[in-house]
Amino acid sequence: MAPTDVDVDRAHRAPGSSTAELRRDSARRPLLRTQNLHRILGSGETAAHILRGVDLEIYPQSFTAIVGTSGSGKSTLLYLLGGLDRPSRMDERGEPFNPPSAVFVDGQDTSELGDTDLALLRNQKIGFVFQFHYLLKEFTAQENVCLPMFKLGRLSRAAAMERAAALLERLGLQDKLRRRANRLSGGEQQRVAIARALANEPAVLLADEPTGNLDSRNSELVAQILQELAQAGQSTLIVTHDRTLAQRTGRIITMADGRVAEDIALA
Ligand SMILES: Nc1ncnc2c1ncn2[C@@H]1O[C@H](COP(=O)(O)OP(=O)(O)O)[C@@H](O)[C@H]1O
Ligand SMILES: [Mg+2]
Repeated sequence: MAPTDVDVDRAHRAPGSSTAELRRDSARRPLLRTQNLHRILGSGETAAHILRGVDLEIYPQSFTAIVGTSGSGKSTLLYLLGGLDRPSRMDERGEPFNPPSAVFVDGQDTSELGDTDLALLRNQKIGFVFQFHYLLKEFTAQENVCLPMFKLGRLSRAAAMERAAALLERLGLQDKLRRRANRLSGGEQQRVAIARALANEPAVLLADEPTGNLDSRNSELVAQILQELAQAGQSTLIVTHDRTLAQRTGRIITMADGRVAEDIALA
């Protein structure tokens, strides 16, 4: 079995190293890592080789944007990073990719996990915000934010409701806790979706075109919220068409034809 990043870390760590060194180690270890990541969708004649060898590392407390033309594989990459999809292990001729096409979440090679364990890892470590928020429309804002907490089962029902209220308040929705999702505006719904993504204190927040469906005022509000969260230490990775949103991050990765075409750190 291939060693995980964690094992490699352990192997390199001298015995008796200090807590401070351990802390530095964990800050250096990527939260998300792809290795020669490939994704082929469909099969036979219609197979489409969408990702063609992506190597990326996303570190704790970083704020990163992925940009690129439509169809360049941004959403596919984000879904793979978030464990919503699995890498292709073999090329069109059935040969395994070398090195293996893989995604590591907090050091864990996701290919070693069955579907149940992958779903658990996702629920614990990843917060996902989609362009279309996918709230349950018959549920209140507060209930929607509670759902991932109920699923994880770490908090009591009352504690989850309290945390949901605090998150919604932080996003300026304190007056809308008990409003049904389908009676909220688009911008409010997207803020509820962000609160829901933060519910289980994810190691990393992933957002696919979070402002793509909003008017300019709400786009600005959501952009501000994401920036504030990132400044408060929330690792955040967003796919966006919005250049001004991308410019607010610390790093811009440009995808083209299923590969990383450019990867720049911003001052
Ligand atoms: N199920 C699928 N089968 C075949 N091709 C697909 C499928 N889903 C997406 N694609 C294609 O994969 C490419 C990349 O899609 P996507 O990752 O959504 O791009 P982006 O988010 O950068 O616009 C697009 O050309 C899209 O048409
Ligand atoms: Mg997309």
